[in-house]
Amino acid sequence: MFLVHPEKNKTDINLYGAVQISNTAFLVYKNSQGKVELKTGKEEKLQKKAVKNMLLRNPAVKKLLDKYKIKLSINTKTLKELTGGHMNETCNIAKGVYSILAENLNPEIDQSIVKEASMLHDLGKILIPSKILNKPARLNSKEREIMNIHSTLGYELLKSQGVKEEILELVKYHHQNLNKSGYPEFEEELPQNLPLGMQIVSIADKYSALREARVYRRKLSRLEALLILYKEVREGKVHPAVYEALMKYASLYDTDV
Ligand SMILES: [Fe+2]
Ligand SMILES: [Fe+2]
Repeated sequence: MFLVHPEKNKTDINLYGAVQISNTAFLVYKNSQGKVELKTGKEEKLQKKAVKNMLLRNPAVKKLLDKYKIKLSINTKTLKELTGGHMNETCNIAKGVYSILAENLNPEIDQSIVKEASMLHDLGKILIPSKILNKPARLNSKEREIMNIHSTLGYELLKSQGVKEEILELVKYHHQNLNKSGYPEFEEELPQNLPLGMQIVSIADKYSALREARVYRRKLSRLEALLILYKEVREGKVHPAVYEALMKYASLYDTDV
């Protein structure tokens, strides 16, 4: 178990963290009696309660929703799909890329941090209106702006749970690029290069997304996905060594065409 959070009252249900067991991601909840429950995303009531607790504990979430005129609704169906699919797959890829990179260099971050951040990275999508999240066409600029706050929303939701700062940072910046052309902007100056943990979660997220069918496009083949990311290497968005590790991972473990 990785996370600790403050207890409030007897009826509290809190998101406690995420674990992966036999390659399946589970969100972990905890009530005030200290009972830890593993859920696969079926318990919608429990999830809504947990998210409400996160909202109550951090007014920054509501402020952000108000700023973008987003009506509060907790989309547990989204979380169920994300946990069972994309976040789990991102975690598998991130673990693989981490291990390959760690053979030659020191990632300066624990693999457990990268794993847990990968499993939680898109949590903020639970608050993005489903008509934007599931729009079967290109988003307009206003919708894109709203969609892009999901990483900050996830960060703020988890912050109220006492999640480790290292995990929070990876969640917040999982859409950042090596050349810092992604979002959100860094509030303070980071070291010259984007930390390796962020690069790993970012490339795993991108590859996982490209390899899935989305409402607006088909699933891309392994080669198509790798070519798109190679273009990002040439644009300075992805570090060549991280890309090479992903290629190695894909050739070893992504056996699907
Ligand atoms: Fe994301
Ligand atoms: Fe993602």
